[in-house]
Formats: sequence, structure tokens, C-alpha cells
Amino acid sequence: MSKLTILEFPDPRLRTKAQPVTVFDAALKQLVADMFETMYAAPGVGLAATQVNVHQQLLVMDMSEDSDQPIVLVNPRILEKSGEQVYQEGCLSFPGIYADVERALRVKVAAQDADGTPFEREFEGPLAVCVQHEMDHLAGKVFVDYLSPLKRSLLLKRMEKKRKQSA
Ligand code: NI
Repeated sequence: MSKLTILEFPDPRLRTKAQPVTVFDAALKQLVADMFETMYAAPGVGLAATQVNVHQQLLVMDMSEDSDQPIVLVNPRILEKSGEQVYQEGCLSFPGIYADVERALRVKVAAQDADGTPFEREFEGPLAVCVQHEMDHLAGKVFVDYLSPLKRSLLLKRMEKKRKQSA
């Protein structure tokens, strides 16, 4: 396994729209394993392929306390959405900043696993937030897109400051 480089905003490659995965081979499984390694090491709870500069419809997540409930969604589509929730989100492409975003409370998703087997699964609460956040990445969208221009520029300035401090 190897750790991948995570693209950070404002890298324009984060705006790329991912293409469907059509080949379910050993390289895809390796990519999934590398994405988990990268996400756990960050540490983070979700990672879209877009964030590691692979523009295919693939995301990994794990919001469990012991990092032992990995979820892989290949070619995910939202079938149903209901309710709403506001959750404080962060993103590995935006180190050190967090913001409240409103999203659906529950989502029903159709996807494939790393072998190409189709399945459907419902997510609720924080997991539903994570699915929606990561699926946005695959569409070239990021969480600060939901914020007001003022809020967004304040947060991005804060991120820039932190980046300079840690450089
Ligand atoms: Ni993100």
C-alpha cells in the first residue's frame, strides 16, 4: 500500500467531474486500499478519488470510532433524500477549517462495491453527511461552495494563515 497526495483547495483539479468506473480490476482494489491508508493516516473520515487526483466515481469512508467499518462506494447515485440536518463539516482538502452545512438527514444510495457488485444502502445522520460531502467531490463541488461569500472568504483566509504558519 502507499499513501497518496491529497489535493488542497484552491487546486483547480478539485473541480474535475469524475467519470464512471467501468473496469473492476486489481488496480481499482489497490486504489481503494491506498485511499483508505491515506484517509486513516490524515486522519479523516471520508475521501473521494477526486481528492487524490483520480477522476473516477469512487469514494471511501469510515466514521466508526475504531476505524473498523470501512465503506466503499463505486459509481454512487442518490435514489432518495429526506429530512434535513446541519452538521459541522471539515475536509482533508481544506486543512484546519470547519463550517456548518445543511444537507439531507437521510439518503438512499445505489452503488457498486470494488468487485462491481451493485447494492443499495441507506445512510442517516453523520454518515449521510459524509456520503453527500464525498459525492459532491466527485461532481467537482466542495463544501465551502454552500457558504455565503463573506463566510467563505473568512474561512479561506484562516486556512491560508494556518498553512503559512505550518510551512
Ligand atoms: Ni472533502
